[in-house]
Amino acid sequence: MEKPAESANEQATERNISRRRFLKWAALGLGTAAVAGAGYSTLVEPWWIKINKYDIPIPDLPPALEGLRIVHLSDLHVGAVVSKSFIEDCARDAAALNPDLVCITGDFVTRHAHFAKPCCEALSVMKPPLGTFAVPGNHDNWAGGAAVMGTIRDAGIKVLINDVAVVETRGAALAVAGLDDLWTGCPRIDRVAAKLPAGVPNILMMHNPDLIEEFGEYRFGFVMAGHMHGGQVQIPLIGTLIVPSKLGAKYAAGFYEVGVNRLYVHKGVGLISPPVRFGTRPEIALFVLKQRT
Ligand SMILES: [Fe+2]
Repeated sequence: MEKPAESANEQATERNISRRRFLKWAALGLGTAAVAGAGYSTLVEPWWIKINKYDIPIPDLPPALEGLRIVHLSDLHVGAVVSKSFIEDCARDAAALNPDLVCITGDFVTRHAHFAKPCCEALSVMKPPLGTFAVPGNHDNWAGGAAVMGTIRDAGIKVLINDVAVVETRGAALAVAGLDDLWTGCPRIDRVAAKLPAGVPNILMMHNPDLIEEFGEYRFGFVMAGHMHGGQVQIPLIGTLIVPSKLGAKYAAGFYEVGVNRLYVHKGVGLISPPVRFGTRPEIALFVLKQRT
């Protein structure tokens, strides 16, 4: 009569051992996944640049400008986390795309104006024939504003704060416009629209994509922004975790049609604290202009 009881005890003990083994392996698996995830999101993805190429139809683009190549960079954030050498590597990759011009939509530095110099030195490996153009970001203004943008201007980058420049190539003209930052500046859409030369196609830079909601009936050929870093961390089924916007992740990354305008929100090159990226790699965007058919 004792045998069955012993056997039942043995079975229960066996079940407990199996359960303990399972929990031990599950904990080990979860721990390994957590360490691998932390390593990937700090050591791999933030520095794993992706090149994204897009054809961009522009209203009234003259045939001569068909195929014009624009590199769009944003949110370099040179500082304690993002090094000059990382930006230099990215700039070399961008230069290899043979852009005709380069547009940078702000946040060159984080925290200190003195980071603007190494940032510009890194960017100087790009020598686009039509020039490099930029607008300020909120971090540039928080780091000193005029000092940062002064260094950028001294490096030969054309800073457009509520301003328009016209480039000419292949016997045709393209207007490049830039707005001041939404959070830390005074963007004047009306003033920029008034400066656009009639009959000349245009592209527009701004830092914060939320500004697109204030465009109303003002129409631009193509609008470029940054600021959002793609949310920096995108977890499947949960979404973006770091979104510097009162509109949430509405304009986190990629293309948007907003009213009469088409907007591209860049994922950024650098990053801010916490220095992690997951599911949203840093990017270099290449736009190839096309005639709108
Ligand atoms: Fe930024």
